[in-house]
Amino acid sequence: MLNIIICGAPGCGKGTQSDLIVDKYSLKHLSTGDLLRKEIEEKTELGVIAESYISKGNFVPDEMIIDMLIKCVDNQSENTKGIILDGFPRTVAQAEALEDLLEKRNKKTTILIDLQVDNQELINRLLKRGETSGRSDDNLETIKKRLDIYQMKTRPVNDFYKSLNKYAAIDGMGTVNEIFSRISKVIDSKQESQQYTKILSQTISSET
Ligand code: AP5
Ligand code: MG
Repeated sequence: MLNIIICGAPGCGKGTQSDLIVDKYSLKHLSTGDLLRKEIEEKTELGVIAESYISKGNFVPDEMIIDMLIKCVDNQSENTKGIILDGFPRTVAQAEALEDLLEKRNKKTTILIDLQVDNQELINRLLKRGETSGRSDDNLETIKKRLDIYQMKTRPVNDFYKSLNKYAAIDGMGTVNEIFSRISKVIDSKQESQQYTKILSQTISSET
């Protein structure tokens, strides 16, 4: 079972890399941003509230997000081999809520992958996307606000996972395929160590 968090500043490539990870490792993709944008598009009550936060570059309140997370964790099909969390957790409080929720379900986070990209490259990518995305947060003023909030509220999540020994920094500069190959190496090594632990525990239990 792989429960992977893909983290990093706005525009670092979380969504792009998640699509590739989902295909290669048969994981379920949970992007809180995509789910919120769907609500906005459908003009639901939640969508209208979410838009008022997102368009200003602010975070949506935790209660709304945690509800989405619980639905995703509890509604996995038999074919998925875990989850990729994209855009969650974004604060230490969300990270604590996630760990608590997984523990209650006898599950664990495998690793947090931190995609590291230079600020100017982030701005370039998001402005370019803004030409066609229609996203209310892809404009220079809101991008700068999102980057500031990331530094203040989301970066501390890295330290939280470092303290659990579940943190991997990945160079997020370069082509999409180059970055994916760096990420794959980290996930493959986690899968190998899970298999090794499984074999070891089977051997121990057959000897006793
Ligand atoms: P969210 O949708 O998660 O936005 P984000 O974190 O700001 O990140 P993006 O989706 O903009 O970028 P990305 O890292 O996915 O990069 P992408 O692959 O698209 O959240 C939006 C908002 O929702 C938040 O601000 C907040 O208000 C709210 N929200 C969401 N989750 C929340 C939570 N947990 N709690 C509270 N509020 C929450 O790539 C970006 C662009 O670059 C694309 O055009 C892509 O094609 C391009 N690109 C990708 N890789 C490369 C590459 N290697 N080289 C060149 N271009 C590339
Ligand atoms: Mg995204």
